[in-house]
Parts: sequence; structure tokens; C-alpha cells
Amino acid sequence: MSQPLEAFLSSSVSRCEALLAQLTTSTQGIPRDFHPAIEYALQSGGKRVRPALAWAAARAAGLDDAAREQVDPVAAALELIHTYSLLHDDLPAMDDDDLRRGRPTLHKAFDDATAILVGDGLQALAFELLATSPKLNDSQKVALTTELARAAGFAGMVGGQFLDIRATDHDLTLEELQTLHRLKTGALIRAAVRMGGLAADADTDQLDALTRYGEAVGLAFQVVDDILDVEGETATLGKTGGKDAAANKATYVRLLGLDGARKSASHLLASALQALEPLGKDADLLRELARFIVQREA
Ligand code: IPE
Ligand code: IPE
Ligand code: MG
Ligand code: MG
Ligand code: MG
Repeated sequence: MSQPLEAFLSSSVSRCEALLAQLTTSTQGIPRDFHPAIEYALQSGGKRVRPALAWAAARAAGLDDAAREQVDPVAAALELIHTYSLLHDDLPAMDDDDLRRGRPTLHKAFDDATAILVGDGLQALAFELLATSPKLNDSQKVALTTELARAAGFAGMVGGQFLDIRATDHDLTLEELQTLHRLKTGALIRAAVRMGGLAADADTDQLDALTRYGEAVGLAFQVVDDILDVEGETATLGKTGGKDAAANKATYVRLLGLDGARKSASHLLASALQALEPLGKDADLLRELARFIVQREA
């Protein structure tokens, strides 16, 4: 990883951790006994890639670093939706996983009902943050809330999770698998990039370039997740490797083999980089993030 990307990612992670930590201390009226599970969910590490993409997209749309706090509510809302999606994804009724981000999954550390409820609450909190942020004007609030709701909902992440569960034990065509991956993972990543642009008041051409980049990187993210499930070490991944094959999941590796999946990921990287051409140097961080997403080891 290049030095500028390393510095940017580590500052994004700390900024995201601080934003999430504030949420539980500043939200009044949460039942006291609920706090430990909510904090367990929020202070759990993770790469925080979606917030980083939003901040980098805002910069690519010309937002000055000094003004990046304008993107904070977007970054936090994205990570809340993502965290909720992981809590539910790990439940016995879905992927039935015991390990996440190097620790027992929330339903193992607490119980299933608590994991469902923390997920539900995180999702609501994401939208509350966008609707009440003093950093966004009313038209930004409407655009950002709509964007996130669509990406998280039936025609986005939730729809993709439905297809994923239904596809278990079935062979899909490449087109069907692409649709599944675009929805379950691509939609939120596309939204992360677009929302960074929207918070920075990107113009139509900038938003078009960001959208095409977000679509390519979003699909690549899940292709690489499928590869890492086969190649990664449980200790590095922080989640149990080899689960997709064991559970007969529909993945790029199952359909195309490891080499085929790797080729798809590098084609998608090339498309992502091409999409950024109109944005010039301001998009360098997004370029590096795309390379990181495809070359990561966890
Ligand atoms: C894992 O996402 C689930 C997918 C959508 C593929 P990440 O790889 O971003 O997980 P964390 O947030 O770093 O733990
Ligand atoms: C998860 O996909 C996508 C989500 C919406 C959470 P996976 O089920 O492959 O994610 P991991 O491998 O458990 O992180
Ligand atoms: Mg899953
Ligand atoms: Mg899973
Ligand atoms: Mg996976």
C-alpha cells in the first residue's frame, strides 16, 4: 500500500471510530442494559472501507480536506448500515458464522434476538443521522436519505441477501451471479461513492463518473471477498475461511474458478480506473482505494 493511501486509510478509520463512539454516548434514552451489545457492534474494528470511499469521493468531486466534516454523517450512516448487514448476515438463519472481525459474532457473544435488534436499531439510527445532521442542507438530506434507502433496501443489499440465500445449493449463470453480487454488496459501495459526491455537491458529470467507478468497485469488492474466502487465512480475515464452499454458496470462485475470479476482479479494476479519467488528480485516492480493494488480503 502506498504511503498516502496508508495515511488516508488510518485517518479514515480513526475518524470513523470517533464518530461511532459518539453515537452511543450522545443518544439519550437507550435502555442501559442494551449498551454493551450496541457498543460491541460499533467498536468492532473492520476496515471501514465504505466511509473511506465516501470521503475520497467527496475529495474527487472537489471538496477541500478542511471541509471533509461535511461528509461525516454520510460516513457514519454507511458504516451503520454495513454493520447491521453483517450482524444479520452472520445469524444462524443466514450464514451461521461464529467469528467476525476477529471476535465472536454478536449473536454468539449475546444472543440471536439481541443481534437482530441491534441490527434493526443501527439501521434506524443511520437514517436519523442523515435526517438530523446540522452539516447537511435540506436538499442534501433528501438526496442522501433516498440514496441510502434504495441501496440498503429490497432492490439493493436486502434484495441481494435474499438472492444469496435462495441461490445456496443452486448453480447460477454468470449474469444471475453478477446481479446477486451487485445487489448484496455492490449497491452499498456504489451508494458510498455517490453519497460522498452528493455531500460535496458534485455536478452531473462528476456524479456519472463516480457512479461508474462505484459500480465497478462494488462488484469487484464481492468478487474479491469470494476469492479471500478460499485463499485467505482465518486469522488474517477475522472471519472463518472456507465457509462458502462448505455451505455451497453461489460465488465467483465456484462459477469461474480462482483464475477466472481473479481475471474478473482485474477487469473490474480497469473499468473503475477508466471511469475516473474525467476527474483528474483529485481522484487519486479513489484510484488507490480501488487497487487496495482488489489487492487486499482481508
Ligand atoms: C464484508 O465486508 C461483507 C461484504 C459485504 C463482502 P467488509 O470486508 O467491508 O468487512 P469489514 O467491515 O472490513 O469487517
Ligand atoms: C455479505 O456477503 C454481504 C452482506 C450484505 C453482509 P458474505 O456473506 O459473503 O460476507 P462475509 O463473507 O460473511 O463477510
Ligand atoms: Mg452472506
Ligand atoms: Mg457471510
Ligand atoms: Mg463472503
